[in-house]
Amino acid sequence: ASLKKEAGKKDILIGSGAINPDYLDDPQFVAVLAKQFKSLSPENELKWTFINPAQGNYTWEATDRLVDFAKTHGMVVKGHGLISSCCNPQYLLDISDPAELRAAMTAHFEAVMHRYSGKMDRWDVVTEALETQGGGLQANGFYKVLGAGYIEDAFRIARAAAPNAKLFLNENLVELMPGKRQELYDLVSGLVANGAPIDGVALQMHITEVAPIPGVITDMVKAYGALGLEVTIAEMDVHTLNATFQAEIYGAVIDEALRAGITDISFWGFTDKHAYTWLPGAKPLLFDEAYRAKAAFISTFTAL
Ligand code: XIL
Repeated sequence: ASLKKEAGKKDILIGSGAINPDYLDDPQFVAVLAKQFKSLSPENELKWTFINPAQGNYTWEATDRLVDFAKTHGMVVKGHGLISSCCNPQYLLDISDPAELRAAMTAHFEAVMHRYSGKMDRWDVVTEALETQGGGLQANGFYKVLGAGYIEDAFRIARAAAPNAKLFLNENLVELMPGKRQELYDLVSGLVANGAPIDGVALQMHITEVAPIPGVITDMVKAYGALGLEVTIAEMDVHTLNATFQAEIYGAVIDEALRAGITDISFWGFTDKHAYTWLPGAKPLLFDEAYRAKAAFISTFTAL
């Protein structure tokens, strides 16, 4: 059974994020990725410190490898990580002058988005703007110099660099936290009111032992739809070792997402072999360490 084939019948873009190009050396990894998924996104390779480690000195090889792989296999690449809370190099954090920081953002976005123009048509422009547990914007390096306006700046710079790409704000945990959900809505509706060029909200959907309350995804799709925005699922995984419960959550979330009209769904990887290598023992994905389909795969497939 192939998720890609099943999803393709309904024009659903089903994908795997967290693709580290080193994994492409593993033939089993490659076989499952190409058979099951229509889109991929890099794990860290597009994040600032990985692709632009010394100012203006770009390291394209890792991302190029993913782009070439996608081309060979007829896949779409999603651009993840233009601005993210992790992975910002010291030279960037050292910039204290607002005009200089905006210029650095412009140069970086132009270099990266121009290089992958025609190869990546959707981007996470800002990832995790809000504090993890909610309670305001993360005071990251951009916020410290530019204030809350850095988010709007980032979208305007991204639009200028890639006029035809879809631009997303990517956020975590909102499906589980009502207060943070409202904060995200306030942030995004504010951006829209200011005319910032945002096309959608990418829900990470990293789930632990608690399932989202039924209806929450539908409500978000409606609320953002009323603003003219798309909602996607960008990084789903379910961190529980209870395989039955995990399968139920996958099935319920995918079912609700499709009914709500979401057409772009990605998981944060697909095999427990490479899941959260810094969290030993986590088994949050659809395939086990030996690439065998888990109950979570079956419930996901069935929901499609
Ligand atoms: C994670 C990567 O998987 C790790 O390798 C890295 O150390 C930290 O970032 N939300 C995101 C992703 O948007 O970029 C994060 O990826 C996982 C949470």
